[in-house]
Amino acid sequence: FQSNALDGVNVVITAGPTREAIDPVRYISNHSSGKMGFALAQAAVEAGASVTLIAGPVALVSPERVKRIDVDSAEQMHQAAMDSLANCDMFIGAAAVADYRPAQIVEQKIKKSADSMSIELVRNPDIIAAVASHPQRPFTIGFAAETQDVISYAKGKLAKKKLDLIIANDVSDSEIGFNSDNNAVTVIWNGGEKAMALASKQQLSRCLLSEIAEKYKNSRAT
Ligand code: PMT
Repeated sequence: FQSNALDGVNVVITAGPTREAIDPVRYISNHSSGKMGFALAQAAVEAGASVTLIAGPVALVSPERVKRIDVDSAEQMHQAAMDSLANCDMFIGAAAVADYRPAQIVEQKIKKSADSMSIELVRNPDIIAAVASHPQRPFTIGFAAETQDVISYAKGKLAKKKLDLIIANDVSDSEIGFNSDNNAVTVIWNGGEKAMALASKQQLSRCLLSEIAEKYKNSRAT
């Protein structure tokens, strides 16, 4: 891992879950801890990058020399991501963004009454797809968290979201993925893929960034 592999590169990373409010005290979310995105931010700083970390609600301390922007909801993360594009060469979406949010946020705490109730959900913006189709498009890397047919679903997302690279993460295994300290992934691009063996999220981030830095440099050279 070269300590200057990303010298002078402005990298924006999203990390953690989003929270989609139901009422003032309840929300919909997921098990992302932010560890993967924070480890990538740390490794990117070590590689010489200027790093902006857009973090959902997580209980982690920021890596040193990282500019951190805290957000709660997918809509806030989307806004922060769009605002960051003016000065962004590379965007890595490690956040587990909620695909849906409640259609309405109820103003007061919902009271218990009927035996069942339903909450109408509406689609959230797809942040990484918006980044990849933006006029100021950076080199764009997504993750795909899947519980089955991991590689084929990841390839589908690579194409559909028009990404440069996607990192396939099998989250059916609790040792790798959400809230674990370790991870094992497959990096996929148009025309190739590379499996990366089980390692700590810190170690894996260094391997991922050296692969990403090489692909980024090739993309600039062409
Ligand atoms: O945070 P940890 O506990 O360390 O766990 C790490 C992780 C499992 C969360 C991480 O490795 C991971 O896989 N992150 C992506 C999780 C996810 O939401 O995957 P997805 O397959 O649903 O989304 C695909 C891509 O689109 C992702 O880059 C995601 O950030 C992005 N996305 C998804 C929905 C949406 N509305 N906007 C997005 O930008």
